[in-house]
Amino acid sequence: MWDDADGEEDLHEMLPGASLIEDSTRIEAPRLVPEIELHLAADDLPLFRMGEDELEAAGLGTPYWAFAWAGGQALARYILDTPSVVRGRRVLDLGAGSGLVAIAAAKAGAFDVTANDIDPMAAEAMQLNADLNGVYLDIVAEDLVGSVNAWDTVLVGDVFYDAEITGLILPWLKSLVADGAEVLVGDPGRFYLPKLGLQRIASYHAPTTSLMEDSDLRNAGVWRFQDI
Ligand SMILES: C[S@@+](CC[C@H](N)C(=O)[O-])C[C@H]1O[C@@H](n2cnc3c(N)ncnc32)[C@H](O)[C@@H]1O
Repeated sequence: MWDDADGEEDLHEMLPGASLIEDSTRIEAPRLVPEIELHLAADDLPLFRMGEDELEAAGLGTPYWAFAWAGGQALARYILDTPSVVRGRRVLDLGAGSGLVAIAAAKAGAFDVTANDIDPMAAEAMQLNADLNGVYLDIVAEDLVGSVNAWDTVLVGDVFYDAEITGLILPWLKSLVADGAEVLVGDPGRFYLPKLGLQRIASYHAPTTSLMEDSDLRNAGVWRFQDI
């Protein structure tokens, strides 16, 4: 969990990957969410020309945190346009990556925002991105899946990307809904997005990048989990 840093020097002491993130990304706004700037990947930057083996040899995992995923862009757009879904609420952004959705929730007036990702580099990217947008996030890098509900609203941006993560988070999200939490999902209709129990509440065209996807434009939606 990272606290607010007093100055840039302190921040870099606390966050050893911060310099790497700043040096290897470009500050840009995702096209669907021009209000929020992030440290993002670009295809002319060396880090994003490295293959998985090279990344591993450099002690880095796949830099999911350097992309504004289509599902996250849709969910952030929905939150900024419909702030009542988070205003005054205790919010969790699960699988927060860059922190895009969490930052949108903070800007829309959430009471507090926990931004959670198990990738330690994501935690560092989120802190830099929160500072860039002048918001405070409670950044948690532990695995929260299975923990007791502590939130009014749980936001899930583009996390149903394979069978393993879906099998892990789905029963927990259902238990949070049963416990009274509202769970909102942003997703470009990936194969593992649950087919049952989701009510579509918004649709967008989300420009993304062919660095991580097979297309530069994704149709993305926002869904509400129903208590079934
Ligand atoms: C495709 S990215 C989406 C990032 C962001 N929400 C967005 O839409 O731009 C999925 C993220 O889920 C994170 N993740 C995977 N398993 C997780 C877990 N058990 N708890 C929290 N985050 C997890 C990954 O590290 C990755 O950053």
